[in-house]
Amino acid sequence: MSPDFVQFRSITKTFGGVRALSEVSLGLARGECHGLMGENGAGKSTLGKVLAGIHRPDSGDVLIDGRPYVFSSPREAMKARVAMVHQELAFCPDLSVAENLSMGQYPQKFGIVLDRKELAARAEKLLAAIGVSLDVWQPMRTLSTAQEQLVQIASAIGTDPQILVFDEPTSSLAEPDAQNLFKLIETLKSRGLTMIYVSHRMPELFRLCDRMSVLRDGKYVGTLARDEMTHDAVVQMMIGRSVEDYFPQHLSGTKGDVVLKVKDFTSPGLFQDVNFEVRAGEIVGFAGLVGAGRSEIAKAIFGLDSHVRGQVEIVGKPLPLRSVRASLRAGIGLVPEDRKRQGAILGMACRANISMAILDRLRRLRFVLDRSHEKSISSDYFSRLKVKAASLEAPVSSLSGGNQQKVVIAKWLARGGKLLIVDEPTRGVDVGAKAAIHALIDDLARQGLAVLLISSELPEVINLSTRIIVMREGHMAGELPRTDASQESVLRLMTGAALAA
Ligand SMILES: Nc1ncnc2c1ncn2[C@@H]1O[C@H](COP(=O)(O)OP(=O)(O)OP(=O)(O)O)[C@@H](O)[C@H]1O
Ligand SMILES: [Mg+2]
Repeated sequence: MSPDFVQFRSITKTFGGVRALSEVSLGLARGECHGLMGENGAGKSTLGKVLAGIHRPDSGDVLIDGRPYVFSSPREAMKARVAMVHQELAFCPDLSVAENLSMGQYPQKFGIVLDRKELAARAEKLLAAIGVSLDVWQPMRTLSTAQEQLVQIASAIGTDPQILVFDEPTSSLAEPDAQNLFKLIETLKSRGLTMIYVSHRMPELFRLCDRMSVLRDGKYVGTLARDEMTHDAVVQMMIGRSVEDYFPQHLSGTKGDVVLKVKDFTSPGLFQDVNFEVRAGEIVGFAGLVGAGRSEIAKAIFGLDSHVRGQVEIVGKPLPLRSVRASLRAGIGLVPEDRKRQGAILGMACRANISMAILDRLRRLRFVLDRSHEKSISSDYFSRLKVKAASLEAPVSSLSGGNQQKVVIAKWLARGGKLLIVDEPTRGVDVGAKAAIHALIDDLARQGLAVLLISSELPEVINLSTRIIVMREGHMAGELPRTDASQESVLRLMTGAALAA
């Protein structure tokens, strides 16, 4: 495999004072799937965007098949048959799926009239190619994040690329969709496509990639061949030292009063007869397959389900259902699963985003905001979560994807309150930040917060929780104390597989 089909030669790219890429040189062999890893803000998306014609490098060039390209527009990149599946959402939310999939090249009848039939047929064909069927006339904004991700993949593949950049394509996909994507990538590879695959999930990289490279602080660190790819080797290259998966051992923590009591909680079609309690100082983990009803229960407790029935009590007081305002007043915080949409206000400064959820506490007199307190809280979370940004005042939109996530998490962690619900808190963040988030959640529990943790990563839910509730198809399938929980016992309850004798 000679790594000279695509050559990045000494690429440098700065944004204001931030050096996102610093003299990066890297070669891709024709037909390989090349993994790209690195901490949040290391420059992975920027490198992909240079290849896709979205960013013009300050210096350096790219050769494809020996010919120099200085991409300056996505259109030129398209001519060179380069496509990218973006980490962030890249569609017009008010246009239909069909229109989004034909962006810039609407089929026409008689030269002027939009051919709606052809538009729909084209979209359906693109989606079918990746095994997805959905109503192509619905507006983009009605899709789930996972569906939107799939539409984006269909759109990129639909341009018939020879080079394809996947930027964290599985970050919002459920396991079955992810598995379908992996099969698709293998098919694309057998057709000779050259791919860059960016992800924080090592098992995926190990499964899909022929080689992988690591970036650190905008610089190229090195490339590993397939037989050199190990967890330790990669982490060592990423952060220059090794880290174990860190889980605070918080088994004997003193448990306080019951903070959350959920009784006969039912939402037709989503979950039935759910009953449980969470005490102050406890971290109760919710495990289950996607669709088991975990996020739905979380949203319902937070007041976001208009059909839910049953009772919720917060510290003994009944909580009015179906009201976010009541939930916030009662001291409930929710770090939502689809942070890409519900998380941050992109145009606002990081500082303001973090303090948004705690404005009530920052008011000195009635209307005056305590700016210095605001700043110290924000900067404290910034350093604990190692958010990489030019400054506290940088707009969230200028941060890398993973760092945007950290800001959203910081916002809710800073709020505290009585009950914190965290849905997939470490999705999309790098290994170091993951350990920091685990430590923060554990700290909050030690300080007496009740925590409900939803995670699809079994090691995370098993090791961070004091107790694990397993959901299956909208029902509670069982409950395990951490001491009895193993991957196997939890999986068995998740899938309902019969207990081996
Ligand atoms: N449009 C922009 N304006 C200002 N700064 C930017 C912009 N895009 C990226 N940056 C900065 O460049 C650096 C690299 O960002 P990049 O998005 O490439 O990181 P990444 O490796 O993809 O991280 P993640 O894993 O979080 O997605 C970051 O410090 C980021 O804040
Ligand atoms: Mg990125």
